[in-house]
Amino acid sequence: MPDAMTTPAPPQFTLAIVATRDGFIARAPDHPPQDWASAEEQALFFRDVEAADWAIMGRNTHLAADRPERRRIVLSRSRAGWQRPTQLWLDPGGTTPDDLPALVEAVHPLRRGLILGGTTVHDWFLAHGAIHRVHLTIEPIDFVQGLPIFSGAEGAPRAVLEGAGFQTVSEERLNAAGTRYLVMEPRPCHSPP
Ligand SMILES: NC(=O)c1ccc[n+]([C@@H]2O[C@H](COP(=O)([O-])OP(=O)(O)OC[C@H]3O[C@@H](n4cnc5c(N)ncnc54)[C@H](OP(=O)(O)O)[C@@H]3O)[C@@H](O)[C@H]2O)c1
Repeated sequence: MPDAMTTPAPPQFTLAIVATRDGFIARAPDHPPQDWASAEEQALFFRDVEAADWAIMGRNTHLAADRPERRRIVLSRSRAGWQRPTQLWLDPGGTTPDDLPALVEAVHPLRRGLILGGTTVHDWFLAHGAIHRVHLTIEPIDFVQGLPIFSGAEGAPRAVLEGAGFQTVSEERLNAAGTRYLVMEPRPCHSPP
C-alpha cells in the first residue's frame, strides 16, 4: 500500500471566469473574453495561465483562442489523443478530474490545473466536486442572453456561484468602470449537530 511519503497530493483546480453582471461568459461559442473583458481582467487571467501547470477547456474555448505552444487538455467527444506535443484531447466519459495528472505526467506534471470553460466543462468539474478555488471577475456590462456559467444557471454571477456551494473570501474593485474581482472557495460542510 502506498504511504503518504510516496502518494502525490491530488491536483488542485482553479476555475477562472469572467462574467457579465447578468451572468454570461460569452454571447456565443465563438465569442472569447478578449473581445469584451477589461484590460485588468486580462492581466489577471494571464497571471493565472502562467501559474498553472495545465489549462483544461472545451473544444470551442480552445478554438476561440488557439495557442499551439500552451499546455492544454481539451475536452471533446469527437477527437482524442495528443494533437500537439503539449495538447491532449480527451473524451472525459468514465474519467474524473483526479485521473488527469496520470494522463499528462510524462509531458509535464499536473499539480495546479486551471479550468477555462466553457459551460459544460464547468459542469463536469462541479459534478466531481473538483473546483477548489474560483477566480471570478464581473464586468459591469449585460449580454441579456448568452452562455451561462453552469448549465441552466440564471442570474448574477456571485449568486450562481453561491448557489453552487462557494463563498467569497475576498473581493476588490479593479478599475473605475466598476469591474469586480472575487476569490471564492467551497463552503465548508457542516455536520449536523
Ligand atoms: N468568460 C469566460 O470566463 C469564458 C470561459 C470559457 C469560455 N468562454 C467562451 O465561451 C465560448 C465557448 O464556450 P462553450 O460553452 O460553447 O464551449 P466549450 O466548453 O469550450 O466547448 C464545447 C465543446 O467542448 C467539448 N466538451 C465540453 N465539455 C465537455 C464534456 N464535459 N465532455 C465532453 N466534451 C465536452 C464538446 O466538444 P465536441 O463537440 O468535440 O464533443 C463540446 O461541444 C468561447 O467563446 C469561449 O471563449 C468564456
